[in-house]
Amino acid sequence: MHNFRWKISGVLLSSLLLFTATAQKKTIDQKVDSVLSLMTVEEKIGQLNQFNDNWRATGPVTVDNDKFNQIKNGQVGSLLNTLGTERTRSWQNVAMQSRLKIPLIFGQDVIHGYKTTFPIPLGEACSWDMDAIELTARVAATEASASGIHWTFAPMVDISRDPRWGRVMEGSGEDTYLGSKIAYARVKGFQGKSLGDTNSVMACVKHFAAYGAAIGGRDYNSVDMSDRTLWEVYLPPFKAAVDAGAATLMNAFNDINGVPSTGNKVLLRDILKGKWGFKGFVVTDWGTIGELVDHGYVANDYQAAQTAITAGADMDMESRCYKNNLAKLISDNKISINLLDDAVKRILKKKFELGLFDNPYKYCNPLRETNALNNNNHAKVAREAATKSIVLLKNEKNILPLSKNIKTIAFIGPLVKEVKQNKGFWDIDIPGADSSFIVSQWNGLQNKVGNNTNLLYAKGCEVDGDNKDGFAEAIAIAKQADVIILSIGEKRDMSGEAHSRSNINIPGIQEDLVKEMLATGKPVVVLINAGRPLVFNFTADNAPVILYTWWLGSEAGNAIADVLFGDYNPSAKITMTFPRVVGQIPFYYNHFNTGRPVVNEEDHVYKSSYRDIPSTPKYPFGYGLSYTTFGYSNLQLSKKKMAKKEKIEVSFTLTNTGNLDGEEIVQLYLRDKVSSLVRPIKELKDFTKLMLKAGESKTIKFVIDNEKLSFYNQQLIWDSEPGEFDLMIGASSEDIRLTDKFELVN
Ligand code: NOJ
Repeated sequence: MHNFRWKISGVLLSSLLLFTATAQKKTIDQKVDSVLSLMTVEEKIGQLNQFNDNWRATGPVTVDNDKFNQIKNGQVGSLLNTLGTERTRSWQNVAMQSRLKIPLIFGQDVIHGYKTTFPIPLGEACSWDMDAIELTARVAATEASASGIHWTFAPMVDISRDPRWGRVMEGSGEDTYLGSKIAYARVKGFQGKSLGDTNSVMACVKHFAAYGAAIGGRDYNSVDMSDRTLWEVYLPPFKAAVDAGAATLMNAFNDINGVPSTGNKVLLRDILKGKWGFKGFVVTDWGTIGELVDHGYVANDYQAAQTAITAGADMDMESRCYKNNLAKLISDNKISINLLDDAVKRILKKKFELGLFDNPYKYCNPLRETNALNNNNHAKVAREAATKSIVLLKNEKNILPLSKNIKTIAFIGPLVKEVKQNKGFWDIDIPGADSSFIVSQWNGLQNKVGNNTNLLYAKGCEVDGDNKDGFAEAIAIAKQADVIILSIGEKRDMSGEAHSRSNINIPGIQEDLVKEMLATGKPVVVLINAGRPLVFNFTADNAPVILYTWWLGSEAGNAIADVLFGDYNPSAKITMTFPRVVGQIPFYYNHFNTGRPVVNEEDHVYKSSYRDIPSTPKYPFGYGLSYTTFGYSNLQLSKKKMAKKEKIEVSFTLTNTGNLDGEEIVQLYLRDKVSSLVRPIKELKDFTKLMLKAGESKTIKFVIDNEKLSFYNQQLIWDSEPGEFDLMIGASSEDIRLTDKFELVN
């Protein structure tokens, strides 16, 4: 395939030899400059082009039958959607036939695992467990890098307050503080100790910026937002990821206040590359340079390329605007060569840091690939991450955990025997791999129960549609059982990119099936599989037990069984508010008080409320139950007044008051009572997760410093203001168990 003989001038050859001989002694920046000095304008532009390859297209496809020659001519810097050592090696071979032999970078959406699939990020966020989150990213990096991938387009750190938006499944939910911690952990996990390590992949933090606030939750939609909200709510997770050393960022599809992100110089040059000192490169989202024309921001691709490179977008994913226009823009003196050089240098630098100039095939070892993709330890990590992501929403009469001696269990519902569904959106089908490693919910239950338990199954209905033909069989089966487990929810592709929904009720007639199961009079445990917070008021009000299982990945079945039978005591807490009805959206816990807050639900006339529903959520941010209970007591503050340079130590006692060992996620919220700008009714400012044995007590400590009291004031300066603060410690944003006050003094 790659039998290409290249010619090289004597001068160039000696420059290259010189470069190679002295390369070892040079710093990476010097090496980058050496390569740059050898490059033609066309080769420089080539580094800025990223083309799609042949795996499942993740955007509108550009038909391009000439990739081979373009890569051979040094006109492509990166490919996305190329999987496996064999294919990445073969393309790298082509790049090695180019004049300067600059290696390609292979990018891929490794969002929640590569072959081993972890819970969708929104589910995993509910673990509030930074070590677990970092570990799954580490394992994903280990597998992806062994399979030829250098770069993942993750983590997605968009804060979102709108569950209609299909992409909430990819992020951490609605909270900035928690989202920033998770962004940091995920970057560390993907990139490992050093990009030069063979099992590290570059992270790509996305989507810069504010994509999660797309109006109406409609994908690719506009964002209209104050600078204060942008800085305070939406930018911090990006900053945290940059602080963690993220190698790359991806800009967003949306405009913010009329400026599309791909052409947003303030965001990219002033904030990211200026104020934050980001040294990596920015890749556009798919086709977004060309979409500047559709936005109506520029008239044609020529202007689009000029706008994007000037703004600071370094690599063009799939629009071909740089490829087709940058040379002319330079010869027309519309952009300076320095602008092009800056983008090229940023990309080359990462190629050096990845070690690709030393060994372009570093990630192309088939033996390593086979071992990494068949490592049983990875399944263990996936099972643990999945158990930690399952949220117990309701458990009346302590029906859970189930006894392992139950005689007959009816496992009913359209998702019981699904296999691939468990992987959730953004899963990766490894070429040639079968799906036998994915544990269905049915198999998970079978693995768990002994020979004495009789397992019965009926599908009941489909996820969507209105056909009730299967109900009769499901009812008959259910009547034979001691316990019914009912698995319902969304399909894996009802959320994700381009999968926003105006109706977020449990689809189809599944809640009718819940009704039928309850009518049998047997204990019913409902599992809700979903990629977003759904609305399910009938189930929430009537079913005695609900586990929210999201999409848990390849170990879904085992993890669910672990929780059902108490081998894992659930500890997860939701990181997005669950609304009662879609009309409450956008809905989030850290809202302002308004001039007319609802203080008493009985009296909400002339108050900031809807007349037809309570003003509270169905389930609040930070909520989730355990099989045990926890008591909070003995709150103490080291002082009640602090100056800006001082700190207050907060301590209290947490006691496991139930009969089982378990973990609790303790949350600390603050409220700035009076300030020059209105502040939220409460904001998460710290949390900790800890395991307590039944009956055990532990002292928990938090530290309040000036950072936790600061906000962006009217001049957009991050600072605190003297005055009183409310301190709240609780088991959720609404279940506040301990309160006190303190004062910040001058
Ligand atoms: C578009 C998505 O918005 C982005 O998140 C993804 O990384 C790219 N497509 C590449 O698949």
